[in-house]
Parts: sequence; C-alpha cells; structure tokens
Amino acid sequence: MSALRLGNIAPDFEAMSTKGPISFHKWIGDSWAVFFSHPCDFTPVCTTELSEVARLSGEFERRGVKAIDLAVSDLESHNKWIEDVNEIGNVDVQFPIIADPDRRIAGLYGMLDSEEHDPTNVVDGIPFTVRSVFVIDPTKKIRLIITYPASCGRNFHEILRVIDSLQLSDRKKIVTPANWTPGKDVLAHVSLSKEEAEKEFPGHREVKPYLRLVSLPTDA
Ligand code: BEZ
Repeated sequence: MSALRLGNIAPDFEAMSTKGPISFHKWIGDSWAVFFSHPCDFTPVCTTELSEVARLSGEFERRGVKAIDLAVSDLESHNKWIEDVNEIGNVDVQFPIIADPDRRIAGLYGMLDSEEHDPTNVVDGIPFTVRSVFVIDPTKKIRLIITYPASCGRNFHEILRVIDSLQLSDRKKIVTPANWTPGKDVLAHVSLSKEEAEKEFPGHREVKPYLRLVSLPTDA
C-alpha cells in the first residue's frame, strides 16, 4: 500500500501509453508534470475532465508542465475513447494516457480507493482508480497530492493555481494566501526576519509581525 507524501521522489516506472512506451522520470525530463488518474474510460465525468485538460494544454505548456493521465482500462479502450473525448469536447487530446489494467502503477501511487464498496465501481472485483492528482517538479519531487471522489470532476484551474503558487514560491521568499490568484498580493515567508523582509520586499505592509503583505511586480 502506497503512502506517498509531499517531498517524496515520485516512484519511477515503465508503462505503455497512448503515445507509446513511457519511462516516467525520463518522460518528465526537465519539466514539471501533472500525473492524474481517472476511474474508467467511456464514463461521463471522466470525459469532461479529459476534454478540459486538453483545452488547457496551452496553460500547462506556458508553465513548463507536461500532463499525463492513467486509468485501469487498456490501450485499445483509451484510443477509442479519445475519439469521443475529442468529438464531444471539440479538442485534440495530445497528452499520453497510461494503460494500467493490472493496477501496478495505481498501487505504487495509492490511486485505489480501499473504502470503495459500490459494485458498479469495480472491474474484475477490484476498484477503479480514483481521481488522483500528483504535481511533480523537475527534480521529480512530489509537490502536490489531491484525491477527489469518483462522483466529482476536478477543477483544473485550481491545479494551475497551485502550480503558479509553487513556481512563484520557488523563485521568491513568499507564500500565497487563501484564494490567491496570480497578480494578487502575496505574503513574505514567515521565516524572514523584519530586516530580511524589508531588504527583500521594501515597502511591504506589515499587518502583524508574522503577516506581511507584499505586492510583486506582474513579471515577478
Ligand atoms: C464518471 O466519470 O462519470 C464516473 C466514473 C466512475 C465512477 C463514477 C463516475
């Protein structure tokens, strides 16, 4: 049973995908990656999700992020289903979808729901993959883990928002407040002393010694 945590190195693996064989770490290369799973092909929520990721492909690219999906269905099913996704969403899915019929990779990443008792949510007596999301940085470190129930389609704008926050806080000594979106004020990292914060962010607004609002230039 996997118990991956933030900061762990994402387990490496070899797999077959709709874009051919994939060696995961090599495939990520120097990019960031969003590795997500969906329960099953030819299902309604999953169809809308795959369309949305295809629609946002430019947004992922702009941030240096590669998207890759996984499900327990086989390659033939993935390839047939992509045609539906493209038709229904008026998109062109170009990111790879991994076929994991034996749940080898799903097990490695803890993408199976141990509490899943709905008999319609199992294939061959074992559960579908759940809606997992892993954001992985270029050092292959896991930076975000989110798991959604099968009944709820993901908000991929939220995932882009977290990537924006992670990439900005890797560049600057800042953290981002609740409901932050790019362009809004950020917060000086709590580890900065008063002097360090003043040097790093001259003119910032101190609400409390531990809460210091910073307006960054738009190109920060
Ligand atoms: C769906 O994509 O609609 C779905 C898939 C598996 C279980 C529940 C919903």
